[in-house]
Amino acid sequence: MKVVVGITGASGSIYGYSLIRLLHKKGIELAIVMTQMGEKVMNYECGITREEIEKYGTVYDNDDLFAPIASGSYQVDAMVVIPCSMNSLGQIANGMGDTLLARSASVALKEGKKLIMVVRETPYSIIAMENMLKLGKAGGIIMPASPGFYHKPTKIWELVESITYRVLDRLGIEAKEAVRWK
Ligand SMILES: Cc1cc2nc3c(=O)[nH]c(=O)nc-3n(C[C@H](O)[C@H](O)[C@H](O)COP(=O)(O)O)c2cc1C
Repeated sequence: MKVVVGITGASGSIYGYSLIRLLHKKGIELAIVMTQMGEKVMNYECGITREEIEKYGTVYDNDDLFAPIASGSYQVDAMVVIPCSMNSLGQIANGMGDTLLARSASVALKEGKKLIMVVRETPYSIIAMENMLKLGKAGGIIMPASPGFYHKPTKIWELVESITYRVLDRLGIEAKEAVRWK
């Protein structure tokens, strides 16, 4: 299975880091694209550099529109944008394709592949909600970065994984180790 992971400059880079680690552990082939702000916020919030991310998959530059994932003829199974900023959400919802992240997402939509967006902002503007609605209608899956508390987490990592394991569920990847209700 091949998955594209897009990391944008929304807060919550740790969600992206957690997901690529889980997918890598499951043996999933990863193509990763970070926006310029995605890279900066990851470094600011988690102290993680691009070199660390490169351990988990092939990292493409966001301006590399010659990359394989920019084309629908290159076969991938799904794309996850995590965390997804309102800026990238707006670009994707409006069919923009001038960055690799937005182009790969629009390819996922046109090819009928799963496109999961783990959006992060609070509060949401009406424009952001309209963009989410538009993407939901177009086949995208909106999974807000809203962790659950019913598993009584005591560590940040447990909160983060309550989201990233749900992403694995939506990708159809078995995760027996995920903490579940009852
Ligand atoms: C520390 C930090 C946290 C941010 N958090 C958010 C956020 O949670 N959601 C959001 O939509 N934008 C957030 N932003 C703003 C985005 O980084 C900004 O809109 C940027 O243009 C997004 O670009 P991208 O979509 O290309 O990554 C944050 C910026 C900084 C510096």
